[in-house]
Amino acid sequence: MNTRRVIPVMGVILAFVAVPFSFKPDHVSPLQQRIPEGFPPPVYDYKNNPLTKEGFELGKRLFYDGRLSSDGQTACASCHQQFAAFSDFEHVFSHGVDNRFTLRNAPPLFNLAWHKEFHADGAINHIEWQPLSPLTGDNEMGTTIEKAINMLQDDPFYAVMFKKAFGDTAVTSQRMLHALAQFTGYIVSADSKYDRVLKKQDRFTEWEENGYRIFQQRCASCHTEPLFTDLKYHNIGLALDTFLNDFGRMTITGESRDSLAFKTPTLRNITRTEPYMHDGRFWGLSTAIDHWRTYSVSDSSAHELIRNGTPLEKIEIKYLISFLHTLVDSTLLSDPMLADPIPGNRIHQPVLGH
Ligand code: HEC
Ligand code: HEC
Repeated sequence: MNTRRVIPVMGVILAFVAVPFSFKPDHVSPLQQRIPEGFPPPVYDYKNNPLTKEGFELGKRLFYDGRLSSDGQTACASCHQQFAAFSDFEHVFSHGVDNRFTLRNAPPLFNLAWHKEFHADGAINHIEWQPLSPLTGDNEMGTTIEKAINMLQDDPFYAVMFKKAFGDTAVTSQRMLHALAQFTGYIVSADSKYDRVLKKQDRFTEWEENGYRIFQQRCASCHTEPLFTDLKYHNIGLALDTFLNDFGRMTITGESRDSLAFKTPTLRNITRTEPYMHDGRFWGLSTAIDHWRTYSVSDSSAHELIRNGTPLEKIEIKYLISFLHTLVDSTLLSDPMLADPIPGNRIHQPVLGH
């Protein structure tokens, strides 16, 4: 994805659409933002985009609608599937329009209202702007905002939905982006065994308990609870893939100390988001964690925890994996409220092993 190209475009579009939000939600049903117990205050609190059932339903439909893309079949949900915690199931890279591939592994989508920045390099700093990147990316949905808006304007069903959500039938890019943020920001994951143990509704097994202890000592400084990410960028010593030439955060900041630094991914639902790392280079949790066992680097830009090494016994990796399994949130994976609302929807969906 060429996010650098998209950012200036976003500025122009937003200047164009930035009319004050004046709709008074009289005939809408407000929806309460989900803030799980123990979570910090969210970064995105819907202050300028009041969360409503109607706005959320519109956003959900947009998320699942392939007609927004240039080939009519590539929806957000083609690369972000609910059963895979809204990541791309078993794909290293995702299929965009015209059989083009993304240049990074699609991350899971949940707890996004707590993110200050998006994408592995933090190229995008607002949840409402983020969709401009996949919509206009040649290797994702390959369209223009104008074409997407025209499609929506020509569909009487959307006229009704925009009216319900925003008070009249006008379809604007700001409303489209607001609705998408109502959906994506509402996806919350906080109902795993781990969460129930913290609430004293369940207990860890001995192995899980051992794993949790090791996790807190060795991993939690970056995969910080309760989000299981510090949302910062680190170079964890993965060798540069010379085909992709992806230097991560440095491509945004231009600072050499950010070379090969990537945003810490959450570990919630980690068993569903294989393969791992920004380029999907590792299959299997033990392979990903073995990186920590065997890795030592001389590169001074690598994080100190890695420079000093993270020696882990094989049994400690087994404990860690037992613990990581407790982070799967089956409520999220099967929540009907987040499921595809379009009957008989025919969007591109990944085929196993392709
Ligand atoms: C062709 C596959 C594809 C499509 C279609 C797609 N995405 Fe993504 N998405 C990705 C990839 C790959 C990334 C990682 C981008 C990066 O790190 O540079 C991503 C990243 C994201 C992120 C950032 C998450 C984070 O943790 O930083 C969000 C949010 C997101 N996508 C939402 C959407 C929405 C909304 C749509 C539809 C408008 C969409 N995506 C369409 C593949 C896709
Ligand atoms: C210095 C910060 C840091 C520490 C310490 C750390 N991680 Fe990570 N971890 C990261 C970053 C950054 C990535 C993403 C790298 C990338 O995308 O290239 C990552 C990726 C991962 C992934 C892949 C996730 C995915 O969705 O792709 C797993 C699994 C993981 N770490 C587990 C662990 C475990 C287990 C520990 C403790 C033994 C640990 N990490 C310690 C920063 C850290």
